[in-house]
Amino acid sequence: MNVLERVLDFASEAQLDRKSCLVTFGGGVMTDLGGLAASLFKRGIDVVHAPTTLLSQVDASVGGKTAINLAAGKNLAGTFHQPRAVFCDTDTLTTLTDADWLSGLGEIVKTAWIGGIESLNLLEESAAQLTAKDAGTVASLVAECIWIKARVVAEDPREQGARRALNLGHTFAHAIEKAAGYGTLPHGVAVACGLGLAFALSDEIGHLANATDRERVERLLAALGLPRTLAELRERFDVTLRADELLPAFAHDKKGSVGKPEFVLPTRPGELELAVRLEDGVLAAFLAKR
Ligand code: GLY
Repeated sequence: MNVLERVLDFASEAQLDRKSCLVTFGGGVMTDLGGLAASLFKRGIDVVHAPTTLLSQVDASVGGKTAINLAAGKNLAGTFHQPRAVFCDTDTLTTLTDADWLSGLGEIVKTAWIGGIESLNLLEESAAQLTAKDAGTVASLVAECIWIKARVVAEDPREQGARRALNLGHTFAHAIEKAAGYGTLPHGVAVACGLGLAFALSDEIGHLANATDRERVERLLAALGLPRTLAELRERFDVTLRADELLPAFAHDKKGSVGKPEFVLPTRPGELELAVRLEDGVLAAFLAKR
């Protein structure tokens, strides 16, 4: 909130007017914060994003969601404000830390599932080159993810329905990040674990059509070096994430009403159920096993 105020004061001191355009340069925090400031300043000025992390190139910069965090949870104060343009220079990715690189991969796996069978096949075929950070592979996968996301957002820009698909893995991820303490885990790493949990839950409560799809996504996450379970997260990062720590963290999920989290669950490649609520006790029992 303080930084938002500073950005707005800067816009004012720089005498930006309704015809000005704010340009953001950085990762998802920058595009979310800059997008929010642009949407508020003088009731809205243009924004252009130049995202420099894998996560912000494949996800955060595209689609017009802006936000800052509140004490109660991530991204709880924000607006929809579409950028006039997004410029991704994949050369900026060559200096990312390992954690930021991994974080982007989590969102790529999510997007490939949403894209359907061909995107999933493409990602599986490219996994080795992606892990080796082959420049051509990275650039074409970033482009593929943006096209998939742009199609979903164009259908439902304000997340009344279809766009909820992009929250696959995120109900778990937001609870994991909150319970671990914000800043402890990179967002996309929490998303990767959230994907593993969403596939396991969907399989166990009978929503996933083929159990082999769960194995397929688990293999893909592992091939990209991403954690698939809470146990793997605990092993690799300094987090406890016991069920009793996680359960209260689901209370502020933006997709459901307060206290009633909703899950996006996979059914078939490219297909999802968008608002699954669980019977009392199911979530606690599910988390206790992980
Ligand atoms: N990152 C999810 C969305 O843009 O809807």
